[in-house]
Amino acid sequence: MNKRIAVIRGDGIGPEIVEQAIAVLDAVARRFGHQFTYAEAPMGGCAIDGWGVPLPEESLQTCLSSDSVLLGAVGGPKWDAQPPHNRPERGLLQLRSAMGLFSNIRPARIFPQLSAACPLRQDIAERGIDFVVVRELIGGVYFGRHSTETVEGEAKATDIMSYTESEIRRVAHVAFQTAQKRRHHVTSIDKANVLDTSRLWRRVVSEVAEEYPDVTLRHMYVDNAAMQLVRDPSQFDVIVTENLFGDILSDEASQITGSIGMIPSSSLGEGTRGLYEPIHGSAPDIAGQDKANPIGTILAAAMMLRYSFSMSAEADAVEQAVSAALKDGLRCGDIMAPGCTLVGCREMGQEICRRI
Ligand code: IPM
Ligand code: MG
Repeated sequence: MNKRIAVIRGDGIGPEIVEQAIAVLDAVARRFGHQFTYAEAPMGGCAIDGWGVPLPEESLQTCLSSDSVLLGAVGGPKWDAQPPHNRPERGLLQLRSAMGLFSNIRPARIFPQLSAACPLRQDIAERGIDFVVVRELIGGVYFGRHSTETVEGEAKATDIMSYTESEIRRVAHVAFQTAQKRRHHVTSIDKANVLDTSRLWRRVVSEVAEEYPDVTLRHMYVDNAAMQLVRDPSQFDVIVTENLFGDILSDEASQITGSIGMIPSSSLGEGTRGLYEPIHGSAPDIAGQDKANPIGTILAAAMMLRYSFSMSAEADAVEQAVSAALKDGLRCGDIMAPGCTLVGCREMGQEICRRI
């Protein structure tokens, strides 16, 4: 198969981790007889430097005309002084919205080889951590009206949170269908004791649940969910939640696996074109030093193979190569453990390629 992949290297460690993910995709192409071509799409701080905006129109068109998009990470302190509408993160939000990517899937699971990195008590970790967060990605307070004004002599800031039924319904379907391929259990997270958007969320998710009698649904308040995630994460299979809650809980979910550098994510809309990225940020403090862990991005590339290109054998090959490298004791700095071999970003990428 021939596939055209838009590549957003981004800022900080973005370029180095994306380089390794591309090397892995090339190894897959060689082994399985595919052809992947790459189209550069500058976005984030580097695009602000070069084009004055975080998402140049040409980059957006490149993404919209490709089969899928691979992203490293964007942002950094260099652009902190940018006005809100021109921050690097703004480019990412515009891209998600323009591509219609309403569902963001973030798996949280413990790699057996890294179980010692789990910060939870051992008896809790041993019950297992293997769930996915399905986060609504282009609605809610992220995309409501934002303003800062002066009212009666003091500054006043406002961010509007709103949801429509259809926005909730489509992501709920994704959650139930994801659960059907897993352990058939959905936890919908909201703040329905306080927020109208959450009360609507709860009603619509319950209605959608009736179409999936083989999946059990329960509702949980977001404050309780934050607590349950560290008390007993084994109780979760699929979590579905709105944009801001999902942003926060998915960071918590990744941290309890002990290795935020290992976690990929996929964002999809109605079609098969998706955006695939690691969930960690641009880590400017270690950028350009060959210290970053490329595994989150490499596993994101595996998700692209699986979900956008329907290449499951190829995705399996990547995931198995990552497992094999870990089993052989190779570790980047963020997951280093006694008795293991410390490798840099490039060497980790090469070792994974060798195992494909
Ligand atoms: C994420 C990030 C983004 C978000 C930022 C960079 C805008 O934190 O993908 O989780 O809040 O969605
Ligand atoms: Mg986040």
